[in-house]
Amino acid sequence: MQAVEGGRAGGSHEVGIRDGQPIFDGVDLTVLAAQVSTPFYAYSAQAIRSRINALFGAFHGLDVRICFAVKANSNIAILQLMAQHGCGADIVSLGEMQRSLKAGIPAERVVFSGVGKTADEIDAALSAGVWRFNVESADELHLLQHRAQSRGVCARAAVRINPDVDARTHAKISTGKAENKFGVSIDEARRWFAECAALDHVQLDGLHAHIGSQILDLEPFRQALQRVEAFRRELVQSGHAIASVDIGGGLGVMYRPGVDMPVEIADYASLVRATFADFKGTLALEPGRWLVAEAGVLVTRAIRVKHGTDRQFLVVDAAMNDLLRPSLYDAWHEIVPMHGRDEPDVAYDVVGPVCETGDTFAQGRVLARCEAGDLLMIAGAGAYGASMGSTYNSRPLPPEVLLDDGRYAIIRRRQTITEMMAGEQFPQAWHET
Ligand code: LLP
Repeated sequence: MQAVEGGRAGGSHEVGIRDGQPIFDGVDLTVLAAQVSTPFYAYSAQAIRSRINALFGAFHGLDVRICFAVKANSNIAILQLMAQHGCGADIVSLGEMQRSLKAGIPAERVVFSGVGKTADEIDAALSAGVWRFNVESADELHLLQHRAQSRGVCARAAVRINPDVDARTHAKISTGKAENKFGVSIDEARRWFAECAALDHVQLDGLHAHIGSQILDLEPFRQALQRVEAFRRELVQSGHAIASVDIGGGLGVMYRPGVDMPVEIADYASLVRATFADFKGTLALEPGRWLVAEAGVLVTRAIRVKHGTDRQFLVVDAAMNDLLRPSLYDAWHEIVPMHGRDEPDVAYDVVGPVCETGDTFAQGRVLARCEAGDLLMIAGAGAYGASMGSTYNSRPLPPEVLLDDGRYAIIRRRQTITEMMAGEQFPQAWHET
């Protein structure tokens, strides 16, 4: 996403410059910055809606459930948008479950994934009546049977297959190789189905696979889905009913214009339709990033320019605690000065104030010359931005603002320093164990 005259792709929710001002979903970001102060996250409701509609449109006619991966953006207002447009949720913790239910996502549209579900989490999810558990180990399967039995209910479950496919993405977000902690091999899953009659409180009738994130190539999807479908056919032939197949998330987005080439959603949908042409059950998707990444920006203000020995440091007021992706994955995010002045280009190391060398948004990034006080926009920040934020260096969490066709609403106010310390206390009493 880049600020260009008239806006990219022409949609009214794209970032663009109008009369010299940066406009996002009809809202002037400089005015907003003056009102909420920086740094802050801004999300375009129109951009999110258009992604949801595009995805439902691509799968039109199929029995499909889009379960938004809550970890990508867990603000309750974003989840409410998802609920209002028919999405469910893919959750990995009770916190994510509570957020989803609070936002109005019905429990029967919630799938519970994750390798470390505890007995308490399983109990709570059974009480809430989530649609299904994506089970990732034999131990979890038996725990699920035990917890469901003690509550006198039957848990719906899918086995998460680890198809041993290279998603060709960053190693830290690849999940579908045998060496990754996620899911079980098809051989193990086959044994589960052979033995599942003994599990009288688990209805094991689903398959699940999620091979990684920010995938820019259809081929890994094709390989994984073909393995899942071949296994499904085998199961059906041996008498097992498979009611749902959950194909996970992973669709990549364009962080770097002209370099990242995301898969066309129509091509992805065609692949899924062709692969599962014989499948008559429910198809679930768990997209996170694709729905929200390009719908969000992090707005920050330059504190100063520091002239190093041989580098120019542009020190901004956002930091790695606000947006961790560049530090953690060396991720590229477009950085766009919003000053609107015609300035010569300068190569900057764009850094935050946190006391770590890794607190760097970009190195040697060529930008129109900036000075203290200038606003900048860090694009592609709608997914895994605020949701991965922390208060490291005792920096309060920044506000999140939802924009919608010229209006805005604060969906998380800036945390105060008092709130940040809430819950901490000096020792009141010392206890012996
Ligand atoms: N389903 C499961 C089981 C997942 O673990 C994930 C993401 C998703 C769905 C959604 O994947 P998506 O459609 O967003 O690619 N923090 C990293 C991404 C970690 C993804 C973890 N799992 C980042 O900032 O790139």
